[in-house]
Amino acid sequence: MRVLSVVGARPQFVKLAPISSAMAGKVDHIVVHTGQHYDELMSDVFFRDLGIPAPDVNLAVGSGKHGAQTGAMLSALEPVFEEYAPDWVLVYGDTNSTIAAALAAVKLHLPLAHLESGLRSFNRRMPEEHNRVLTDHAADLLLAPTEVAMRHLADEGLADRSVLVGDVMTDVLFRVRDAALAENAAPPHGLVQGEYYVATIHRPDNTDFRGRLEQIVEGLAALDRPVLLLAHPRLVAAAASSGVQLDRGAIILTSPLAYPELIRAVSGSRGVITDSGGLQKEAFLLRVPCTTVRPETEWVETVDLGWNVLVGSDVSRLAAAVERPLPPATDAAPYGEGDAAERVVEVLTERATSA
Ligand code: UD1
Repeated sequence: MRVLSVVGARPQFVKLAPISSAMAGKVDHIVVHTGQHYDELMSDVFFRDLGIPAPDVNLAVGSGKHGAQTGAMLSALEPVFEEYAPDWVLVYGDTNSTIAAALAAVKLHLPLAHLESGLRSFNRRMPEEHNRVLTDHAADLLLAPTEVAMRHLADEGLADRSVLVGDVMTDVLFRVRDAALAENAAPPHGLVQGEYYVATIHRPDNTDFRGRLEQIVEGLAALDRPVLLLAHPRLVAAAASSGVQLDRGAIILTSPLAYPELIRAVSGSRGVITDSGGLQKEAFLLRVPCTTVRPETEWVETVDLGWNVLVGSDVSRLAAAVERPLPPATDAAPYGEGDAAERVVEVLTERATSA
């Protein structure tokens, strides 16, 4: 069986890692990198640190407005799909690389599987929400991470194409966590274990409006402990063009971290403040309280279990939320036991039409 994975953005490299190792020696696995993320720290370090073989094809599409970026990927993917003629095209998550690959596959009548299917924010201002809904409706096989995702798919009439496999980001986190923590490295920038926060902000709704960005940065700068702010390129570009100073008050501005360093930094912190999807879940899995600077989340289990608080657009609630007492301990495992990638390979193999 030949599976062709399409990835392009940082969270997709993390999801690819356990899939790539579960497929090794069993599946003819072709990896196509669209080039949506291209910086060393946004791309190459993930392949290196997570032991992912170099992509077979790199389309080097780069940045651009949504239409131009997605369109360039769509047209570049078509000849690649024709050349490799895979049994499955496997797409990941909710980025422009996901929707471009989904469209390219269905137009060529290639079987399409969507990993991390069924997540919904119900926020139609997010480009990712459209990417994931459209991809789910185009795909032949929906690989869902949680029971809640399965319910969303059933509500949209997609139950017969859906399979609960668990969350592959949990697989990689469990695999990297023990090795990363065993190194016993001190927190970066001379920070004290348990006495700092880790923050990331990159959603367009937060970065692209000057007033909103200024409020968020002001809120972070006034917190009661140092804040390690991991600078996504979108944040840096937006702050520079709107004249918002990032490096002030409690904030320590730093480059994006490699995955093992991120896991170490989060697990040594007192809390995470983010608008990222994946980081909310990683904080929960490391049992670090999270405060999410968005009105809603796809990972509702983190909120239901008390480990995530949504502050939405009301940044005046930030300090109270971040500085709240630790939540009650829990041994709940809504994201699976760390074996989702194995399950993905089994399901793809069972359902391949021409293995
Ligand atoms: C994308 C995904 C988002 C995911 C995020 C993770 C979409 C619609 N969004 O958002 O779901 O959570 O990745 O990071 O696909 N840039 C660089 N270097 C890079 C990559 C980007 O400088 O390596 C800059 C570019 O100037 C670009 C901006 O960052 O304009 C934003 O990049 P883009 O590809 O539009 O998406 P993200 O905001 O990263």
